[in-house]
Amino acid sequence: MSVGKHDQPRLDRLGAYPFQRLKGLLAGIRPASGLVHIDAGAGEPRLPQPAFVAPQLEEHLHGFSQYPPTSGALFVREAMASWLVRRYGLADVDPSTQVLAANGTREALFSVAHALVNPEAAAEPRVLMPNPMYQIYYGGAVLAGARPWLMSCTASSQFAPELDAVPEKVWKEAAFIYVCSPSNPTGWVADHDWYRRLIELADEHDFYIVADECYSEIFWREQPVGLLEVCQRIGREDFSRCLVMNSLSKRSALPGLRSGLIAGDARLIARFAKLRSYTGPATPLPLQRVAAMAWSDEYHVGINQETYRRSLQAFYEEWGDGSPPEGTFFVWLDVGDGEAFARAAYEQQAVTVLPGAYLSAPDERGENPGTSYVRAALVDGEEQAAELARRLRQVRV
Ligand SMILES: Cc1ncc(COP(=O)(O)O)c(C=O)c1O
Repeated sequence: MSVGKHDQPRLDRLGAYPFQRLKGLLAGIRPASGLVHIDAGAGEPRLPQPAFVAPQLEEHLHGFSQYPPTSGALFVREAMASWLVRRYGLADVDPSTQVLAANGTREALFSVAHALVNPEAAAEPRVLMPNPMYQIYYGGAVLAGARPWLMSCTASSQFAPELDAVPEKVWKEAAFIYVCSPSNPTGWVADHDWYRRLIELADEHDFYIVADECYSEIFWREQPVGLLEVCQRIGREDFSRCLVMNSLSKRSALPGLRSGLIAGDARLIARFAKLRSYTGPATPLPLQRVAAMAWSDEYHVGINQETYRRSLQAFYEEWGDGSPPEGTFFVWLDVGDGEAFARAAYEQQAVTVLPGAYLSAPDERGENPGTSYVRAALVDGEEQAAELARRLRQVRV
């Protein structure tokens, strides 16, 4: 595609989105006949909807005749604040100044870079992020005028982004860091000490922390710690420098509802709210009503958690190697050559998985930590997870 004189050059620094690349990779390959296709490529939860969704929506249909407030109606922000207090044992979260509703976290994770990066700074600011990563971080950073710094997450560090491996100069140039805990795709989960060290670094070098905790409710053994929880435990009750994002897409299996939360430092929340009053990513009011109910109910979350746990167990029993990730419903498998494996899995076993390299990029040393991996999402329940492992075991590259 030729570049016109008015075209945004930063857009040309981004590759095609992972699912488009996957489509290209599998184009022209005929999946094995006689097998029902298993789509483990996308991470879209496909569990049943909670029973309250339809009645709650029906009761509030009249809300479609009003513009929804971009920051979220107070009732949904109150539900989000109460959830944060209950879930993380926080003393207090003020729904008016410390919480915003997002139209799903994807848009918020993207646009937060426009609130936290100064594109007119003398030196191009850095945005740090894990590698592999949720691709929105990369797109958000680049389009906001920052240079991404990729923190390679490999098996040798149990997939933790290694804070001590970041050069001092990079910390100094940092505008903010994206954290993903539990991590899509590796399943790594931040612990108290890791978050505490990051907060110390943020104070020392004057940068912000944006923690994407969308998979916080999907865990194998222990309930993951949250950034705001660590703030509270170290006496940082204003959550300064810290923002967290969470979503109903995973915990409630409601990706189509588009409900995310943003919470933390009131000053950052106010600046982000100002930006959002221009971009206007509001969730329709009837959907905010459903969302408020979903943030207030843990029963349906418990059912989903059990399903994911059983799916992970069933997968690893059949796969026969390694152990389930600490968090998320993804398995991150070292298969030698992720792209070749994904093609073979589709052709030989009618299974779609995502090559790891589509979620990662070459780091400063030119090494791409995702190349030998594929990501498979266990989003269709236990039996399908076992069948997925059986089929993947038979793939020959
Ligand atoms: C790590 C991570 N963060 C955020 C999101 C966005 O979720 P949503 O926009 O549905 O809240 C996803 C979705 O797949 C994700 O994997």
